[in-house]
Amino acid sequence: MKITVIGTGYVGLVAGLGFSDFGNDVVSLDTDQEKIDKLVNGQAPIYEPGIEELLSRNLKAKRIIFTTDKKYAIEHGNIIFICVGTPQTNEGDVNLDYVYQVAHDIGSYINQYKIIVNKSTVPVGTAREIGRIIKNTIEEREALIKFDIASNPEFLREGKAINDFFNPDRIVLGTDNAQSLIELNKIYRVFARSNKPIIKTSIETAEMIKYATNSFLATKITFINEMANLCEKVGANVLEVASAMGKDGRISPKFLHPGPGYGGSCFPKDTKALVNIAKKHGAKLSILESVILANEFQKKLASQKIIKRFPTGGTIALLGLAFKPDTDDVRESPALEIIRTLASTGLFQLNVYDPQAMIQCKNALAPSSSEFIKWCSSAFEACRQADAVAIITEWFEFRNMDLEELKILLNSPVIFDFRNIFRKDDLESLGYEYYGVGI
Ligand code: UDX
Repeated sequence: MKITVIGTGYVGLVAGLGFSDFGNDVVSLDTDQEKIDKLVNGQAPIYEPGIEELLSRNLKAKRIIFTTDKKYAIEHGNIIFICVGTPQTNEGDVNLDYVYQVAHDIGSYINQYKIIVNKSTVPVGTAREIGRIIKNTIEEREALIKFDIASNPEFLREGKAINDFFNPDRIVLGTDNAQSLIELNKIYRVFARSNKPIIKTSIETAEMIKYATNSFLATKITFINEMANLCEKVGANVLEVASAMGKDGRISPKFLHPGPGYGGSCFPKDTKALVNIAKKHGAKLSILESVILANEFQKKLASQKIIKRFPTGGTIALLGLAFKPDTDDVRESPALEIIRTLASTGLFQLNVYDPQAMIQCKNALAPSSSEFIKWCSSAFEACRQADAVAIITEWFEFRNMDLEELKILLNSPVIFDFRNIFRKDDLESLGYEYYGVGI
C-alpha cells in the first residue's frame, strides 16, 4: 500500500518505519530539513534502541523515502497518517497548531481520494476539525476531491517504541465509514496471525481511549507513590504491598513501581489536557486533578529527602537524568526538579551523569544553576568523593554497579534509591545508609 506519514518524532518515525517494514511503500514527511538529512543518511534523530537497524533495513530495501516536499508526500499516499507534535500550552491545553497546519497542507495538495488518519494525541473532536479544514481548503481551490477521516491512536512507549509497535496490546481504529475501515484493516492484517485485538469504534471514542488510557496509567503510578509514602511512615514495605496487589488479576503488577513521580512527553501533558477538556465540557475529573497535584508533590519529595538528610548541604552524585531509561528525553523528568531545587539552596555541589541525556539536560536547565553542577562522563566519576549518591533513573548500568567499589569512592556510603533498584537489606549489610521509596 502507498502510505504517507507526516512527522518524524517518536510516533511518526516508528510508525513510518514499521509500516515500511510491513512491506508498504512509505513516504515520511517532516518540515525539519536537518532531521530529514540525517534520516536520508541512515541516522536517527532520536535515541531509541533498535531504530537505526530498522532505518537502515528499510532504506536499503527502498521501502521508505524521507522528504520535506509536502506536495510529493501528500500526493504519494492513499492513506496519510498525521503524527505531528501536540505540545502543551502554558494553560495546560493542547497546542494544535501543527496538526491544523498539516490539515491545511493536505487540503492544499490532495489530488485524489485519500484516507486521512490522525495518530497524534488530540482532544475529542479534533479529527473532525481536521476534516473541516481539509474540506474548506479543497473548496478554496475550487476542486472536487473526496477524502475520509479516521483516528488510530498510538500507545508506544519511548525506549520500547519498536517492540510496542510490532507487539501492540491492541489496535484502535476510529472510523465512520466502511472504506476507511477496510483500508486500515489491510495495513494491520499483519497482526491477524498473532491475534492482536483490533478495536473498531467511532472517531470520538478512539480519541477518548488514548487520553483515558494514559490518565489511568498516571493514576496507577500516583496511587502506588502515595502508598509508598504512607509505607515509609507506618514501617511497611511497598514492594511487598505492590507485589501482593499485582497478583490480583484485576489489578496486574504493571505500573506499580513507586518512584520520584512520572515524567515524559505524555503523562504530564495528557492528564492536564484531559482535565481541561473536561472543564470545557462542564465535567469534573476530580481524581485526575488530584493525580496531577500528587505527582508534583512526589517530584518535590525526592529533593526534600536529600535536604532533610543533608541540611547543611554537600556533594551529591545524581545518576539518571532522562525521565526513564533507554531514552535521551528529559521532558518533565523528575531529575530536572531535583537539580533545580538542590541547586537553588546554594548548599549542594551536584555531580550529574546520564548515559544518553547529558546534552538534553544541559539544554533544559540552561542558563541557570550551572555553577553548582558538574557534568560527569561516568557514574563512577560522579560518585567520586560525593557525600551521597541518588539514583533518579533506573538505567541498567546503575543496577549493575560494583557496590564495593562505589563505597570506596564515596565520602560517606549514603544511597537515595528513588527507583528501588537495590535491596535495602543487601545495601545495609554492605554498610550503606539506604533510603528507598516506601521501604
Ligand atoms: C507513555 C505510555 O506508556 C504510552 O502508552 C503512551 O503512548 C505515551 O506515554 P512513555 O511516556 O514513553 O509512555 O513512558 P512510560 O514507560 O509509560 O513511563 C512514563 C513515566 O512513568 C516515566 O517517568 C516512568 O518512570 C514512570 N513510571 C512508569 C513509574 O514511575 N512507575 C511505573 O510503574 C511505571
